[in-house]
This record gives sequence, structure tokens and C-alpha cells, in this order.
Amino acid sequence: MTSNRRTFAIISHPDAGKTTLTEKLLLQGGAIHLAGEVKARGDQRRARSDWMKIEQQRGISVTSSVMTFEREGVTFNLLDTPGHEDFSEDTYRTLTAVDSAIMVIDAAKGIEPQTRKLFEVCRLRSVPIITFVNKVDREGRPVFELLDEIADMLALDVSPQMYPVGMGGEFQGILDFASGEVVVPEGPSREFKGKRVADFDLPEEIAENVELAQIGYPEFDLEAYRNGDLTPVYFGSALKNFGVTELIEAIARIAPPPRAQPAGDKQIAPDHGEVSGFIFKVQANMDPNHRDRIAFMRQVSGTFKRGMKLIPSGLGKPIAIHSPILFFAQDREIADTAEAGDIIGIPNHGTLRVGDTLSEKNQLRFTGLPNFAPEILRRVQLKDPTKTKQLRKALDDLSEEGVIQVFYPEIGAQHIVGVVGQLQLDVLISRLSAEYKVEAALEASPFATARWLKGDAKLLDEFESFNRANLARDRDGDLVFMAKSPWDVNYQVEKNPELSFSATKER
Ligand code: G4P
Repeated sequence: MTSNRRTFAIISHPDAGKTTLTEKLLLQGGAIHLAGEVKARGDQRRARSDWMKIEQQRGISVTSSVMTFEREGVTFNLLDTPGHEDFSEDTYRTLTAVDSAIMVIDAAKGIEPQTRKLFEVCRLRSVPIITFVNKVDREGRPVFELLDEIADMLALDVSPQMYPVGMGGEFQGILDFASGEVVVPEGPSREFKGKRVADFDLPEEIAENVELAQIGYPEFDLEAYRNGDLTPVYFGSALKNFGVTELIEAIARIAPPPRAQPAGDKQIAPDHGEVSGFIFKVQANMDPNHRDRIAFMRQVSGTFKRGMKLIPSGLGKPIAIHSPILFFAQDREIADTAEAGDIIGIPNHGTLRVGDTLSEKNQLRFTGLPNFAPEILRRVQLKDPTKTKQLRKALDDLSEEGVIQVFYPEIGAQHIVGVVGQLQLDVLISRLSAEYKVEAALEASPFATARWLKGDAKLLDEFESFNRANLARDRDGDLVFMAKSPWDVNYQVEKNPELSFSATKER
């Protein structure tokens, strides 16, 4: 069975145009759930208000997490990666739930730090990437310079699929290599559809460059793209809705359908005989009067039906999923089912955790959804010492949600929180106060990073007796080595070759 699902994310540096592109993708597809500033129009307004009602009833805001749209028989699930300058584990995890990504680059800026970081996360999992060079309606850097920068900085083969006919004031359109046509701007910019011109008279210099672009770079190779070794490059202007159709068509044509997911030494394919999936994100209610959470499950296999019972790996007994949020309410007939590649929002009271597997038979565990070694570690100091219990509960909850990681040192009573980005700490403090009425401050901790320890029980005991001051337990009770510096880690790794010091922990 070939699936018509394309589950993807957009990765970019802030300001490159992710929001604008998302809006245009949704407008071109039959957008169902329109998020944030994205403006709903016509028929879509109705769908939007349905959605907002759900949000109000549940008192949550989940719209921007998953956006589903359809176009010419293909269903696109666009997963939002938080658009902050700062990096969080949420972003990493969202990227474990997609099958491919669109990398948006500002034509005037090229590869920026955040693009690069997100790219590296995709590379870890060989996520295939289509590049969209945005803002060609403005003066940008020379095309070859951009192509070479992508190739060099990301160590990736680039295969241009288009060539902009001028940029900025000189911009005339985009030559599409596949058809040989030039897409030229036509009509008012919002509704705008590019007109295709077959016999466009290219300026001589552009014609030469087009030839160079085609012979000087690797030809598109589907397998190399799907392995994450080659990126096809498209050009356009999200703002002017230009090149977006070509981009959607490319996603439909070449982006991979739902991939098999690793579960230990097995690979679970979409046609595996039962419904299964994993939780990659938990979003708690920002309204302090309700404690509901939405767990986001990436479906890996089977056909899900409303009311179905699934067994969460963390619970061991089945739960009936009566009121799933299927990001998919346009067509009532399919509103109650979901397929591999889809995302299902499952309301719950904290029973579902990031990393949990859900399945009908409870016989498999998806792997590869990691915790990352924190890069910032802080001690949590309570302003009111009588609130220890509330603090512990709050930290457990928030670490379950993946907002932070929490470590309980073997010596001393102060909890240590770990994050990979500063923003996570700001979120922590404000949520402790708003949702748990716990006023806390963060202070420096003596530790710089952490490593999960594994090995023979006897050797671990021995290590523990010598290094108690540098050991902690995470919220699962697993042993963690708290290091004062990277040097400290290396020293212990060399000294204890039989133990493994891991920078990630898979659940
Ligand atoms: P982000 O989500 O990646 O952070 O970027 P966003 O879409 O918000 O776009 C950042 C800025 O770049 C916005 O301008 C947006 O209008 C502009 N932009 C996006 N795509 C294009 C494009 O193709 N061409 C041009 N010329 N500009 C583009 P802003 O001034 O910051 O905001 P606004 O007041 O225009 O909304």
C-alpha cells in the first residue's frame, strides 16, 4: 500500500519566513486548522471556528502544533517546531516524529546558526530535506554562492531544481528545470498564482548560469535525497506566494511516505498488523483551573478508530481513546480514523509521557526518542521552604512533559534541573509560579553536564561508592554522572572503560 501521507516539519532560522511559508502552504492546500496569525477565509473560517470551540472547551491551545491540509489526494501533516532563537528538547523531539523536512533559507543570509543546528538534528536520523531559498523578490546573494554554502556548511550534495531569473528589483520569475518553463508573477499577490511561460526569453547571462547550475551540480537522485545525502533546492518568495505551488508539488512527489520506526532491533512499518505509535510531545493546559494535558502521538502503523483501546507502555493497561483530537475534521467520514503518519492528540491527566509507546498488544517499544544531556544545569531554590512537596510534584510533572529534566543528587536535598536551552528555564520559573504556586529561583550548580551511566551492577556499585558527590538519579531512578566539565567526563570515561557514559538516554 502506498500511503498518501506526508508528515514533515519546517526548519529555519528565525525571520527566514517559516510562518509566512506555513500560511501560504495552508492556503494552497485545503487548510483545516489555521493557526496564530494565519488568517482563515471563506469556508475555512468555519473549520477554524470548529477548532476554536474545541480549544475553548478543553481550555488549551494546540492549533499550531499540527496543521493538516490536503491537496490533490495527498494529506500533509505539518508539525510545528517552536520558532524560538533558543533551542529546546521539544524541537528535537518533534523532529523525531516527521518523515522529512523543508529547510527555509533567507536568500540574503544563507545558512544561519539555527538552520544549522536543526539540520544536524535531522541528520542524526537521516531525515530527508528539501531546501527552499526564500525571499527571491528581494536582493539576495548570488545563487551559486548560496548553493555552495549549503553544500559546504552542511556537507550535503545540493541539486538545484530551479533558477531565479533575477532577484530583487530585477526579479522576473523562476525557471523550473523539470518543465523548462518560467513561472512568472501574475495577479494580486495574496491569491496569486504563477503563470507558466514555456518560451520565456532568458537574458543571456541567466541562460549561461542555468546551464552551469544544471551541469555543475549533482542531478536529483531520489534515493540519495531519501537517505538524507542530497537536498533538492527550490527558490521562491513565501510573501508573494511564489514558488510555493512548486514546493508543495515536490513534497507530494518526492518526500517519503511514513517510514518504518525502530523498536529495539525491529522496524515497525505502517502495515504492521496493529495500531501503534509513540508520544513525542505533551502539552499541558496553560489554564491553571484545568490540569488536562494533550499528548501528541505520532501514529506508526495500523488504522486508528475513535474509541479504540490502546495500551500505553508506561501504564501497562489499556485506555480507551474516546475523544482524540484528529487534526483532520474537514471530511466527517474520515474524521474518526487516522492512519500511519498522522498525529493524534490524546487528552489525559498525566498518564501519558513523552517517549511512551501506545499499541494494541503492548509487545513493542519504539526506541530512538532520546533525552539529551543537558547543557545548562541549575539548582532550584525554594523561596518558601514549606513547599518542598509541591516543588517535587511540579518538577516531576514538568519533566514528564519534557519541559526540563530533573536530577536528584545522591547527596544533598536540592533538586537540579537540566535543559539544553535557556528558554526552558524561563518557562520553568513562570509555570512553577502560575500553575503550581511555587515561587522558586535558580542558582548556579557546580555541574556543567550530565551522562547516563550504564554497566555491570557490581562495577556501578563500586563507582557509586567512590563518586557519590557526583551522582544523581533522574526521575526514572536511573543513575546519572554529574560532571563539572567536559574534561571531567573524559577523565571518568578513560578511567572506567567498562562503564558507558551516555549523552543521550533513550526511553
Ligand atoms: P519566521 O516565521 O521564520 O520567523 O519568519 P516570518 O514568516 O515571520 O517572516 C519574517 C519576515 O520576513 C516578515 O517580515 C515577513 O513578512 C518577511 N518575509 C517572509 N517571506 C518573505 C519573502 O518571500 N519576501 C520578502 N520580501 N519578505 C518575506 P516582517 O517585516 O518582520 O514582518 P511583517 O510585518 O511583514 O509581518
